[in-house]
Amino acid sequence: MKTFDVYNQFDVVPVKGKDVYIYDDFNNKYLDLYGGHAVISIGHSEKKYVKNITNQLKNLGFYSNAVRNPLQDELSKEINSQADLDNYKLFMCNSGAEAVENALKLSSFNTGKKRIIAFKNSFHGRTSAAVAVTDNKYINSELNKQHNVSFIEFNDNKKLEIELDKGDVSAIIFESIQGVGGLDQPDEDFINGLDYYQKKYQVSIIADEVQSGFCRSGQFFAFQKFNIQPDIITIAKGMGNGFPVGGILVNPNIHPQKGILGTTYGGNHLACVASLSVLEFLKKNNICKKAIELESYFKNIASKFNSIKKVKGRGLMLGIEFDFDVSELRSKLVYEHKIFTGSSSNKNLIRILPPLSIKKNHFDIFFNALNKSL
Ligand SMILES: Cc1ncc(COP(=O)(O)O)c(C=O)c1O
Repeated sequence: MKTFDVYNQFDVVPVKGKDVYIYDDFNNKYLDLYGGHAVISIGHSEKKYVKNITNQLKNLGFYSNAVRNPLQDELSKEINSQADLDNYKLFMCNSGAEAVENALKLSSFNTGKKRIIAFKNSFHGRTSAAVAVTDNKYINSELNKQHNVSFIEFNDNKKLEIELDKGDVSAIIFESIQGVGGLDQPDEDFINGLDYYQKKYQVSIIADEVQSGFCRSGQFFAFQKFNIQPDIITIAKGMGNGFPVGGILVNPNIHPQKGILGTTYGGNHLACVASLSVLEFLKKNNICKKAIELESYFKNIASKFNSIKKVKGRGLMLGIEFDFDVSELRSKLVYEHKIFTGSSSNKNLIRILPPLSIKKNHFDIFFNALNKSL
């Protein structure tokens, strides 16, 4: 029986992963500069991560939120500590889209309003409201289009103020570095200015850190480049290093009410242990700082390639832009050089989203292969 055929796929069947490499069913070794959509943060099957999850599974794999789970409190505390946040409260779910869905819903509960402002070229997931705030008509069904969403360009204060003046905006959701959209970033002044609107219009600021969080940008959260206090921060992907986990971090100025959010699987014991193991690795190996060093190394080599027109992004959330469609080049990298990279909605851009455990020599291997392929 065939699966429901919705994915464009490479003809590769990975069966094993180790750090920055994956191995297919013929034991071919691939350098993973994509991390399965920026998910692999501390490396494939990292030893302590596997051990911790295995031990937890032997004791208790799952119980629902009908009982207390101190692992969630421990995780909330550790994220606040590593990200240097001031007592944000964690609500856990299972994916990035779910995190966005809960963030939008919570902001609407909190403000009593329903319109959302999102940005051109955004990607926030595929569930009902998450896809509605995603700037891609092709993946929005009539059902999704029922949500009340306005898209504006980054840095367009004038338009933002016109929309906010209408008085019905519940939240502004943004990516500090657009992932799927092709690594564009808003100006610092523009994001810093959101603070003013937050107070003036009682609107929630939602920082979507699903892709950029957990050190990928070189800071724990990419929004920390700016001077703002989001009302809600969405997290997933690197948070679990492949274990399906997501969540929202809620500013203490928003108060919970019993029953307004909920999930069966969210915050289960295995997910908590997976994420705690990620955090242990990030801290122990000083990964945020290393991501910045590797960014410089990468950008320095990339700048020597005449064919690369632009290097975009921050930390280990990077893109290289050419003046041609890169799909053939990416296929060559996979089939001839055994290197995975990512695509984006910008057809001329290759996305580089490696495990954060990557080393300089892996980038040397990549640029060597790129040189031969061009
Ligand atoms: C910024 C951002 N938000 C949300 C999502 C949705 O996450 P998920 O695919 O886990 O639902 C993604 C996925 O790429 C993302 O990049």
